[in-house]
Amino acid sequence: MEKASIIGSDITQVKALLEGGKVVAIPTETVYGLAGNALDVTAVAQIFSVKKRPTFDPLIVHTHSFESLKLFVREIPEQARALAEAFWPGPLTLLLPKKDIIPDLVTSGLDRVAVRVPNHPLTLQLLKSIDFPLAAPSANPFGYISPTTAQHVADQLGNDIEYILDGGAAEVGVESTIVGWENGIATIMRVGGLSIEAIEKVIGTVQAQAVSSSNPAAPGMLKSHYAPTIPMREGNIEALIQEYPSKKIAVLSFQKAYPAVYKNYILSESGNVTEAAQRLFAAMRELDNSDADIILTEFVPAVGLGKAINDRLKRACAE
Ligand code: TXA
Ligand code: MG
Repeated sequence: MEKASIIGSDITQVKALLEGGKVVAIPTETVYGLAGNALDVTAVAQIFSVKKRPTFDPLIVHTHSFESLKLFVREIPEQARALAEAFWPGPLTLLLPKKDIIPDLVTSGLDRVAVRVPNHPLTLQLLKSIDFPLAAPSANPFGYISPTTAQHVADQLGNDIEYILDGGAAEVGVESTIVGWENGIATIMRVGGLSIEAIEKVIGTVQAQAVSSSNPAAPGMLKSHYAPTIPMREGNIEALIQEYPSKKIAVLSFQKAYPAVYKNYILSESGNVTEAAQRLFAAMRELDNSDADIILTEFVPAVGLGKAINDRLKRACAE
C-alpha cells in the first residue's frame, strides 16, 4: 500500500520537504495549490506528473512580495504595479515577461510567467522562510474540480504527496483572476476571485479575452474542465427537472430551494455571489459524491464573483 499524506500545519516540515525538491499541497485564499520549487526543473516536472497535467499548460509562480518579483520578471508595466499595490496579497495573477531563471517548463515555453502573492497567513509565512518561489497549480487531478479544503486534496492526491499543509477552508473559493497585457492593453485572461469591477476601479476599462479559459492553447481546448464525474447541465432548473422524470436529480441552485428532488445544494440563501463562490467547489464535490444520475444547475447574477462562478459552471457542464 502507498503511504497516505500527513495533513498538518508544521511549516518547518513543509519547508524541509520543499528544500529537498518534494511537492506538497499548500493553502491559499482561492484554492489549494500543489507546490514545488519553481526554480528546480525536477520539482516542477513532479508537479505535472502528480497532477497528470499536460506540459503545454503552464503554472503560476507564487511569491511573498512585490519586491521579490525582480528576481524573475524582466519588466513591470505601470498598471501591473498599481494592481499589485492595490490587491496583493490577494486573488490576482499577473502575466509578466520572465527572466531566464524561471525554467521553460514552468511557462510551457511561453515568454511570460504568471505570478501572484497569495493571501494566506501560513503560506505567506512559508514563502518568506524559503529562498525560492513556488510553482503551484490547483491541487486537483487535471480536469477535475479544484480543492478548497485539505481533505479535498487528500481525497484525490493523498497517496501521491507526503504533506498537505492545512490552512482551513479557502476564503475566496474560486481561482485567481489572471491579467495580462496584449499590445499594452490590460486583458482579463481568466475571470476569478478578484472582480473585474474592482480591477477597473484601479486601472480603468480592461478588455476581456475572447476565450474564457486562461490559456486558449491549453485547458480551454479540452471540452470540459472543473468537471464532476456525474453529468451536469445548466439552464432553467424547473424546466430541466421535467426532462428527467425517472432520474435521481441533484440540483445546485443559487438561492432557491428544490425540496422535491433527490439532493439540493443551495449556494447562497441570501443571494450573495461572494458566499456562493466560497461554497461552489465544495458543493460540486458533494453532489458529485452522491449517487445522483444528473446534476442540474443555473447561472448566478453576473456581477462581482458571479462572472467567475458562471465561467466555472459553464466549463463543468461542457461535455
Ligand atoms: O488561484 C489560483 O490561481 C490557484 C492557486 C493555487 O494559486 N492556482 C491555479 O492554478 O488556479 P492552475 O494551474 O490550476 O491555473 C492556472 C492557469 C492555467 O489555466 C494556465 O494555463 C494559466 O494559468 N497560466 C499559467 N501560466 C501562464 C502563462 N505563462 N501564460 C498564460 N497562461 C498561463
Ligand atoms: Mg486548475
